[in-house]
Amino acid sequence: MPSVGVLLDCVNMKPPEHIETERLVLRIPSLADAEAIFNSYAQDSEVTRYLIWRPHRNIEETKSSLADCAVAWEGEVRFPYVITFKENGAVIGMIEIRIDDFKADVGYVLSRPNWGKGLATEALRSLVAWALGQESIYRVWALCDVENLASGRVLEKAGMQREGVLRRQSVHPNISDEPRDCYCYAAAR
Ligand SMILES: CC(C)(COP(=O)(O)OP(=O)(O)OC[C@H]1O[C@@H](n2cnc3c(N)ncnc32)[C@H](O)[C@@H]1OP(=O)(O)O)[C@@H](O)C(=O)NCCC(=O)NCCS
Repeated sequence: MPSVGVLLDCVNMKPPEHIETERLVLRIPSLADAEAIFNSYAQDSEVTRYLIWRPHRNIEETKSSLADCAVAWEGEVRFPYVITFKENGAVIGMIEIRIDDFKADVGYVLSRPNWGKGLATEALRSLVAWALGQESIYRVWALCDVENLASGRVLEKAGMQREGVLRRQSVHPNISDEPRDCYCYAAAR
């Protein structure tokens, strides 16, 4: 039986609002980030190719998704962060963790000029370490489209193992309206 303390932790589990890594700061998104996010990646169809959302057509869509982020932090499930450079505060992407009792899943996106520098891996490692450091979280997992090789590699570099293919698991509307096969990756303790 888990102790009362652990049960209370499950109910009130919130990750830190501010996380620093070697090169990055992860922080709670704000409406003031809309312009940077819209201009740097939210309207980029290369970036959204394997995602569940379509490129934003205007900044209002970005603002609306940021408003949802603020609401999410008031709840106990979804915790989105903007990924920023520590040295100048520039917003370069987003990462989020969703907590479901004893497990959590993650998702992330980076602006294209910042691909290939190990930044997504760096951001993800910090969230995986936080999650698996919690007494009540035993598993961190993620899904990625079977063709999203860069993302699969990021998940491996962050310590996850590929567990298998979930067939017809998720619609990635920028590729097709039909559900697509996804790999499931996880780290567990
Ligand atoms: C996926 C994504 C977050 C990766 O970010 P990143 O900061 O470039 O990732 P990293 O630099 O930490 O690592 C990328 C790894 O993938 C590898 N990689 C990149 N493109 C690849 C490809 N087409 N095929 C195989 N490997 C590839 C890189 O070589 C690197 O591995 P290595 O360090 O062993 O060389 C970024 O490309 C992105 O934002 N994509 C769009 C959004 C997205 O797909 N999010 C994930 C949804 S599941």
